[in-house]
Amino acid sequence: MSQIKRIGVLTGGGDAPGLNAVIRAVVKSACNAGIEVLGIEDSFDGLIEPGRTRPLGQKDVTGILRLGGTILGTRNRGNPFAYPVETSEGKVDYSARVVGNFHELALDALVVIGGDGTLSIAHQLAGKGIPIVGVPKTIDNDIVGTVSCFGFDTAVDFATDAIDRLHTTAEAHHRVMVVEVMGRYAGWIALYAGVAGGADVILMPEIPFDLEIVAARLKQREKFGARFSIVVVAEGAAPKGGKVSIVEKGDAATAERLGGIGVICARRLEELTEKETRYVVLGHLQRGGTPTSFDRVLATRFGGKAIECLTRGEFDVMVASKPPDIVTVPLDEVGGKQKRVPPDFDLVRTARAIGISFGDRPVGSARC
Ligand code: F6P
Repeated sequence: MSQIKRIGVLTGGGDAPGLNAVIRAVVKSACNAGIEVLGIEDSFDGLIEPGRTRPLGQKDVTGILRLGGTILGTRNRGNPFAYPVETSEGKVDYSARVVGNFHELALDALVVIGGDGTLSIAHQLAGKGIPIVGVPKTIDNDIVGTVSCFGFDTAVDFATDAIDRLHTTAEAHHRVMVVEVMGRYAGWIALYAGVAGGADVILMPEIPFDLEIVAARLKQREKFGARFSIVVVAEGAAPKGGKVSIVEKGDAATAERLGGIGVICARRLEELTEKETRYVVLGHLQRGGTPTSFDRVLATRFGGKAIECLTRGEFDVMVASKPPDIVTVPLDEVGGKQKRVPPDFDLVRTARAIGISFGDRPVGSARC
């Protein structure tokens, strides 16, 4: 018989399509196991201030499976360990308040749904005695220990559709179109959407590029009669010997914001190829909208597995996808690391084989 009677659930970090599907699965499986659920608003902020929690029952999660965003709200700037507060009794760090409120709310455990930053905080809180199960979330697919994260499939689907649309206008105007996609320091979105959308060039963080090589490939395409080209560039991609392009610096509590490489590539490629070039930044559109069926199923499996872990007393772990199973991995193996695309990954090799350039070396000239 489980000792868990009442749990809290929160979502942290950037939103990703499928968060509501996890919340729904957590609430439904918990309720059916006789466990009460308290929804905690705006990530850990809901445990710092009073009055930012609400009970969640089956009725509260009806109809949210297909909704993007998160009914609980989220934050990617709220690390309770990064803000020690001066009080008359000395410096108090917010994490102590989080732990205090956890007990005040009579919670037995927490389900924390978030990316590597949120999961690191979860592990630190587990170290302070809070029974926690983490659920990995990111459109970037860069969390170690899990093959997939919900949100990624939806983001790739959206980016693929955008590339399809850009193909028609690129072809009509004989232009080069540069599409900047998200992904932080990993090229998963760029690689999958680039291949699915039939891109001619994919630039990603794991393979530093040279725009002279990219331009040569675009000219080569022109020679064999393809008068347009699509270049997909990940926001974290950088030229050989160069730096990533950022729009805002980070600090102890906030990650730096990447962006701007799309316009840099477009301007330089226009000079080098003398072809009219336009760029598009897909930005947060990739995080919006309704989750794909794949993401809904994965999110539901994660939510169900999280409750299974809590009821059998398995804590300080993250649920993870290891096809065909959903497994658990210790949270201390997850935080502060990134799962990047291995440069010899089979999809990279296949992409090269079918003539996609990664901007690092010339593509072989086709003889047939
Ligand atoms: O991690 C998800 C993500 O969308 C990244 O791809 C992107 O770099 C970042 O979040 C953007 O963060 P923000 O919403 O704070 O601009």
